[in-house]
Amino acid sequence: RTVYVNGDYLPETEARVSVFDRGFLMADGIYEVTSVLDGKLIDFAGHCVRLDRSCRELDMKNPHSQDEWLAIHREMVARNGITDGLVYLQVTRGNPGDRDFAYPSVDVEPTVVLFTQSKPGLADSPAAKTGWRVISIPDERWGRRDIKTVQLLYPSMGKMMAKKAGVDDAWFVEDGFVTEGTSNNAYIVKGNRIVTRALSNNILHGITRAAVLRFAAEAQMEVEERSFTIDEAKAADEAFITSASAFVMPVIEVDGAAIGSGKVGNVVPRLREIYLDEMR
Ligand code: PDD
Repeated sequence: RTVYVNGDYLPETEARVSVFDRGFLMADGIYEVTSVLDGKLIDFAGHCVRLDRSCRELDMKNPHSQDEWLAIHREMVARNGITDGLVYLQVTRGNPGDRDFAYPSVDVEPTVVLFTQSKPGLADSPAAKTGWRVISIPDERWGRRDIKTVQLLYPSMGKMMAKKAGVDDAWFVEDGFVTEGTSNNAYIVKGNRIVTRALSNNILHGITRAAVLRFAAEAQMEVEERSFTIDEAKAADEAFITSASAFVMPVIEVDGAAIGSGKVGNVVPRLREIYLDEMR
């Protein structure tokens, strides 16, 4: 694979980053994942806007303009021959000196790393036909989940809890309400109505979420942005998650209880189709 590090396109074995980089020592960095379908970057502008916001929230300088980011992404897609897959982008604060809790000067150049993942048939995942099963677990992440940081240890623990339970993912619950999935936003469907938690510091402001809610409203569905409980999910007709890598994925079971018929319903596949049609 060809990876990108601070302006250079290199074989992955030749890429180097300092061990003192605050991304490595303190998870002091942010990332974006953009999917590629048929060579096209999906909703690239949305990811760029969120990247810029993450930088600002952490007093980090965004090292590139949107046009520059786009050129780098396209170059990575081309050099790695990606038809369907993902582009991962990470910006960490760098670090010219020793380990220190205080940030270095804003003039220190951040470390920029990109790599690609080839995923042939990404949009035709068999899981979209059968749906995911999830468990609920306490949300024990930090309080600024709206910033897309590389601090992903608790989400990884959540994914492992799900794997141990023999299911596909975990939904985080805080104060009795679902926040989101380990790496996706969570929704339930009741009749013609889609319910998903409102935006706040407690969840990531999903780029896919914004697009799906827009398309749902255009398709005359009702959209209600409010918190919901696991009991409500169990009593829903359908459920799903969204993310840049899974698009719109049905969820058919939570904590061992079937949602609706326990099979993939009608609303979620329709939303998935609309999303993919509109974005490709
Ligand atoms: N995860 N919530 C969390 C906690 C996430 O990590 C993600 C994305 C989302 C969905 O956001 P978007 O629609 O912008 O991808 C919600 C990415 C895909 C990842 O970590 O791989």
